[in-house]
Amino acid sequence: MKKLYIETYGCQMNVYDSERIADLLAPFGYAPAARAEDADLVILNTCHIREKATEKVYSELGKLKLLKSRRAEAGESLLIGVAGCVAQAEGAEILARQSAVDILVGPQSYHRLPELIARLARGEGKSVQLDFPADEKFDSLPETRTAAGPAAFLTIQEGCDKFCTFCVVPYTRGAEFSRPVVRIEAEARSLADNGVREVTLLGQNVNAYRGEGPDGEAWTLAMLIRRLAQIPGIARLRYTTSHPRDMGADLIAVHGDEPKLMPYLHLPVQSGSDSVLKVMNRGHTRDAYLRIVDRIRSAQPKLALSSDFIVGFPGESDSDFEATLDLVRQVGFAQAFSFKYSARPGTPAASMAKQVPENVKLERLHVLQELIVSQSREFSRRMQDCVLPVLFEKPGRLPGQAVGRSPFLQPVHVDGAASYIGEIHNVRISKVLPNSLHGEFLRPAVLPAELAAH
Ligand code: SAH
Ligand code: SF4
Ligand code: F3S
Repeated sequence: MKKLYIETYGCQMNVYDSERIADLLAPFGYAPAARAEDADLVILNTCHIREKATEKVYSELGKLKLLKSRRAEAGESLLIGVAGCVAQAEGAEILARQSAVDILVGPQSYHRLPELIARLARGEGKSVQLDFPADEKFDSLPETRTAAGPAAFLTIQEGCDKFCTFCVVPYTRGAEFSRPVVRIEAEARSLADNGVREVTLLGQNVNAYRGEGPDGEAWTLAMLIRRLAQIPGIARLRYTTSHPRDMGADLIAVHGDEPKLMPYLHLPVQSGSDSVLKVMNRGHTRDAYLRIVDRIRSAQPKLALSSDFIVGFPGESDSDFEATLDLVRQVGFAQAFSFKYSARPGTPAASMAKQVPENVKLERLHVLQELIVSQSREFSRRMQDCVLPVLFEKPGRLPGQAVGRSPFLQPVHVDGAASYIGEIHNVRISKVLPNSLHGEFLRPAVLPAELAAH
């Protein structure tokens, strides 16, 4: 038996891809290793979104090179592969910068790994595969899924055609492609058969989903969600990441009437300033975003909203940044992620005039994050003494403890719940901590039916 270690960076789509790489290599004798030191094959599944993410890959490769040399001295081997968005974007440059790398695969070509590994074993030199056949990839992956726990990711859509001027994703993941409904349904059923209770549907533009339905028509994400909600074992559905431009009326309606769809939405806005949004090529205004938020909240008043923000985009003035703060105050987010603009090679924004100085970006990031943290703490505080349905996912740090998620994606720690992993139970929130909730386990028998809804 050989051992495989995968280090995953970046978004949930990479997490999904890493799981599929493990599924793909298992029949070829690769069992999972807990760390690189124990592995025969190490794969870095990389992210190119910001400069920092990319730099991390090169420093990790430096460490792996040392490990490989030590192995060689002992007469043993180590294969090093780079997968994901850095492999796609920088390709041959990686091989030039780090000669220890044996394999390069892009996000749409990792299904070729078994063949590439075989080629290496035959001594045919470095193995590089950076094509873009998203459809071929999904057709080549095993139909059944190994589930890592009761909550799983399922990629339904790949790539992006939106070309925001700051973003590398359209170049690293390729054009938008949606998987057919029947294939997604088969994968979701396989997950449910393996004990999965919650499925998060993934895509860089997940709500732009237009996959072939069983009737031969193009189905929307809303139609797909309604279909998957009929799988008995699946109790919860989520989706991410969505674009404000594709928040269709039917999708908004599902938030109101499909109880399995969790009341949480990650809807990146990036900026609250119309002039910045325009130069970003986001294709929506501040007002359009606010109107969408109103409509979703009228459909689902419990909704917890999350977003992404970029500060210091080229040309962002103090008043543009003020407009972002104002939007945050107006919306009230349960959670949000904010980043300093990072110039990415090959993207239009990288060569724009009026790049914002680093110290200004940092200052704005601090101010924005302080506001976001105060909002998310306020959102959590509101949970005190509430009863929330929690899907228990894994053991906690203390003996007998289990950690699960609330419908709003908050981690909830509960003592004495270890035997309930994989199940959903109502929990009374007894303590609100900065990044998690603590709850007391309520036995299912004492629950009023209406609280057991989710
Ligand atoms: N598809 C999603 C997000 C993809 S990337 C969407 O359309 O919203 C995740 C987040 O990284 C983005 O929402 C953005 O906030 C951030 N990001 C992308 N490119 C960036 C860059 N060049 N610098 C800083 N942050 C960036
Ligand atoms: Fe990047 Fe914009 Fe596409 Fe999102 S919509 S992946 S931010 S180009
Ligand atoms: Fe990063 Fe690629 Fe995801 S660049 S954010 S891993 S799509």
